[in-house]
Amino acid sequence: MTAAASWPRVEGLAYGGDYNPEQWPRETWDEDVRLMREAGVNLVSVGIFSWAMLEPKEGLYDFAWMDDLLDLLHANGIAADLGTPSVSPPAWFFHQYPEARVTDKNGTVMGFGSRGMASHAAPEYREAIARMAGELAKRYGDHPAVVMWHIHNEYGVPVAEDFGPRAVASWQRWLQERYSTLEGLNAAWGTAFWGQRYDDWEHVVAPAATPTIVNPAMKLDWARFTDDQLRECFVVERDAIRAHAAQPITTNFMAHQSWNTDLWKWAELVDVVSDDHYLWSPDPDAHVGLALSADLTRSVAGGKPWILMEHSTSAVNWQGRNTAKRPGEMRRNALTHLGRGADAIMFFQWRASRSGAEKFHSAMLPHAGAESRVFREVVELGGHLQDVADVRGAEVRADVAVLYDWESLWAQDLEWRPSDDVQFRERMRAFYERLWRDGVTVDFAYPSHDLSGYKLVVAPASYLLTASSAANLTRYVEGGGTLLVNFFSGIVNENDAVHEGGFVAPLRDALGLTVEEFLPLREGETAAVRWTRGDAVELPSDVWQEDIALVGAEVVAENISGPGIGKPAITRNTHGQGVGWYVGTRLSVEALTTVFDAVYTDAGIEASGLPETLEVVTRHGAAEDFVIAVNHGDDAARIPVAGIDLLTGAETDGELEVQGGGVAVVRTARMSGGGGD
Ligand code: GAL
Repeated sequence: MTAAASWPRVEGLAYGGDYNPEQWPRETWDEDVRLMREAGVNLVSVGIFSWAMLEPKEGLYDFAWMDDLLDLLHANGIAADLGTPSVSPPAWFFHQYPEARVTDKNGTVMGFGSRGMASHAAPEYREAIARMAGELAKRYGDHPAVVMWHIHNEYGVPVAEDFGPRAVASWQRWLQERYSTLEGLNAAWGTAFWGQRYDDWEHVVAPAATPTIVNPAMKLDWARFTDDQLRECFVVERDAIRAHAAQPITTNFMAHQSWNTDLWKWAELVDVVSDDHYLWSPDPDAHVGLALSADLTRSVAGGKPWILMEHSTSAVNWQGRNTAKRPGEMRRNALTHLGRGADAIMFFQWRASRSGAEKFHSAMLPHAGAESRVFREVVELGGHLQDVADVRGAEVRADVAVLYDWESLWAQDLEWRPSDDVQFRERMRAFYERLWRDGVTVDFAYPSHDLSGYKLVVAPASYLLTASSAANLTRYVEGGGTLLVNFFSGIVNENDAVHEGGFVAPLRDALGLTVEEFLPLREGETAAVRWTRGDAVELPSDVWQEDIALVGAEVVAENISGPGIGKPAITRNTHGQGVGWYVGTRLSVEALTTVFDAVYTDAGIEASGLPETLEVVTRHGAAEDFVIAVNHGDDAARIPVAGIDLLTGAETDGELEVQGGGVAVVRTARMSGGGGD
């Protein structure tokens, strides 16, 4: 077997979506492929939910319809991303193997009639998915339409955790492997507290329903265990496919929306990274979250091109109020993903389902049919992707790294923290949004990565920070880097135990401080800080203050109201060749401007100076660059660039106007230097 390719064999950029033709009569398939061709679709994901059709009875396979489908696609020049249907085992499976159902934390066993209900720990499930993946790979490993394998669907949703007896037995084995001895486990979990000491592995139950909160170190390990189990299931299928087929293998991640999966680890298992992203309707600036998600996906992919496996042409159906995308919005969304490294733009789904739970979800071909605004925009986007096909493979470069660690998310957002108002994702988004509004392109990084290539490293939410990662950050500053750390970082180690030496102690040298006591604000309470570096200015703050103990840092802002009145709020510390900044209160995206402006100066970074609603990212090709501009504002805006707008053919010799709500992809001469854009 030859080594797997890392990109599906598709000409140009890939364009398409999930395709579930089994929901339609055969005649409809012919119409589908005709319209797909009209829209420029060259890749569709098939079979993701098709187990019941592929194996209607245990051991009895029906591949005839899939043969027909793949042949039809191939005859029409459309490639297939062939799904394995492990997210949705058939009714017979649960009837035959009731032990393979998931048990929730209250002991309720999940019934059939939905999707995603199988226990990752059940041997019957693992055997069945290996068998199915193997059968598919045997049959379609050489099919010319199949250019990629798509294992499962969105690991971890709708359920990840299983509290049933099978899972608990796996959990006990997992703990024995991790700790070897019960002394090790007792020490790591701090079981002397509340008398939780264990003297038998079998007594270590799952952190299910308990009278009050569960030991947080146990919960953190449970999250690691659950993620490991899901990855094991992926590997079972991957290996079953790899025995017979050489096409690249992927599974669809959910970047910033994923809770249960540590994508740094997952990315190492796939040949090509894919991501799903859906706008969050209540957020008026949901496109900023989209950009964050895209940058995070590219970062876990190690900077390599990635696949936008799913987004929506218009409304989804699973939020409280499912807002429809307005004209031009889908195109802006797609081009943001492209600008941030996606070389494939795909949707859920090709044709809207008439029945079932997702009948109100938008699609490339909506219920209204081909004579519709959405389909016209789908065709237009397909044309655009052909016009900009040369972007494929071009890289995004960044001078700034934002630290992102799923273990820190799992540990931070548990119960009984100093303030419910301190949330990992909220601060991640706020710091990211400041950079986004300043037009500064970022990578995400893991705290132990080599960060020396970045001018600035930002840690918005590094609650869990191991001593060795803290040492890495300290070395980064010593070597001349600029580090910006937000409060409630550097608090606990890998066992969720407070670091010795006080809060933030592992970063004491880099930041020139520790924190003696947290001073969270009451719900809704507001405060302010006075910034005194350069022009004095007052900035509103809320949620958090603290009693900072200075060990060499300079105070650049102090609290002028609230429980920490008169105490340092923002500090700057020189250490070695570099600088460590610290923000000890919660600042809005707007108020963070003052901090970031000063930090950019230290780091040698220039904000773009463009309107905040104009998103501009550069992809660097082998011989030329591509400037991708997305205007989220209503007014036209100008970007300084010379080249050709590949979408309109317009030539610009220094400035290009991008219409309100519009987009541009400008082919331009290769820029010198590194990232930043
Ligand atoms: C995704 C899922 C798809 C579809 C979509 C609807 O999370 O992978 O199968 O359900 O949501 O938005």
